[in-house]
Amino acid sequence: MQHTVSLECAVTENLNPFGRCERGLLPLKMSFLTSWAIIPLLLGSVGVYSLYRLLQRLRSRAYIQDAVVVITGATSGLGKECAKVFYAAGSQLVLCGRNEESLEDVVRELNRMRKGSVKTHKPHKVIFDLSDVEAVSSAAKEIVKLVGNVDILINNAGISYRGTILNTKVSVDRMIMDINYFGPVALTKALLPSMIKNGRGHIVVISSVQGKISIPFRSAYAASKHATQAFFDCLRAEMADTDINVTVISPGYIQTNLSMNAVTDDGSKYGVTDKNTAEGRSPEDVAQIVLRAVGERKKEVLVAGVVPTLAVYLRTIAPKLFFAIMAARAKKERKLKNA
Ligand SMILES: NC(=O)c1ccc[n+]([C@@H]2O[C@H](COP(=O)([O-])OP(=O)(O)OC[C@H]3O[C@@H](n4cnc5c(N)ncnc54)[C@H](OP(=O)(O)O)[C@@H]3O)[C@@H](O)[C@H]2O)c1
Ligand SMILES: *[C@@H]1O[C@H](CO)[C@@H](O)[C@H](O)[C@H]1NC(C)=O
Ligand SMILES: *[C@@H]1O[C@H](CO)[C@@H](O)[C@H](O)[C@H]1NC(C)=O
Repeated sequence: MQHTVSLECAVTENLNPFGRCERGLLPLKMSFLTSWAIIPLLLGSVGVYSLYRLLQRLRSRAYIQDAVVVITGATSGLGKECAKVFYAAGSQLVLCGRNEESLEDVVRELNRMRKGSVKTHKPHKVIFDLSDVEAVSSAAKEIVKLVGNVDILINNAGISYRGTILNTKVSVDRMIMDINYFGPVALTKALLPSMIKNGRGHIVVISSVQGKISIPFRSAYAASKHATQAFFDCLRAEMADTDINVTVISPGYIQTNLSMNAVTDDGSKYGVTDKNTAEGRSPEDVAQIVLRAVGERKKEVLVAGVVPTLAVYLRTIAPKLFFAIMAARAKKERKLKNA
């Protein structure tokens, strides 16, 4: 080390009267100092960050424990897994569905779950069809009568669609819109006033990557999710001076019966599990992401891999390229179908 210093001084000929190389020594002292300071600094930052995460986790847990949580579409797929994780976290659940039997099955499954350290609550069931605005309004009244104020509403129920725009009846477009868009809108509007009065409330909606980009042969579904995204973004802004939080979650493919339960151009059941859905994320994983996002009161979460995420950005940054890719995709899918 000493050798390099004098060598540098020899080069720069910057020796002071005491024969010390000031310019050379200063950086040496600095690097010596920083190399020693970096370790505690690093440990310190890691410590502060861990503490921050721990506090955040504790706050999340307290937020969800004993909270009244309404979940629509709780009979299967993501809704059912959300019911499990919120139940285990100690929420007071109100499970919504169209079918009493399948809701009862979910309740039985929750009861069978191994008890952790958190105290669980017996779930309630409310049966109604989301596409019936009258039924939604009376269901909201029933919910408030059952549990009082709702803390968290998770608008999860939904239906998918496969078909060409040319062959699809408008009644099918309308049906998808009724379930995926007007259903959550009506339920949210019915529960919002009591949340505002109570000074606490959280509206969550399970949208989709297709709420941000449209892919061919999914027109009605993508449109309903785009509308959902728009409505709840608006709600978030309008609620800024209240105590209401809004979370929009946009997942990519999840391994559920969504594709199986999808409707086609004439309204009949699609009845097939597409490859993309079969290879999607597990609903258990996505439910954990929902739990975390709700606990942290995230404004929005995109639950997608690299390709769908890129596609979302491409739609904004390079729309022409995005349109070309979608056109190619439509052509390819049509060829496969006709083959
Ligand atoms: N799976 C995916 O790849 C994927 C990707 C992105 C977003 N999502 C979204 O995730 C949410 C959950 O879907 P999932 O994948 O779990 O599908 P799923 O297994 O088919 O579950 C759909 C749920 O919605 C309910 N539902 C359907 N129509 C209804 C109506 N008219 N009234 C009340 N409830 C109704 C169903 O209840 P019933 O038992 O009564 O039929 C069921 O509980 C949906 O909003 C979907 O758009 C899914
Ligand atoms: C899909 O439907 C079948 C039959 O109704 C059911 O047994 C299964 O649990 C469902 N899968 C999911 C992930 O909800
Ligand atoms: C929840 O929403 C309220 C009102 O918009 C806002 O003031 C608050 O910061 C939000 N909470 C979090 C954790 O984002």
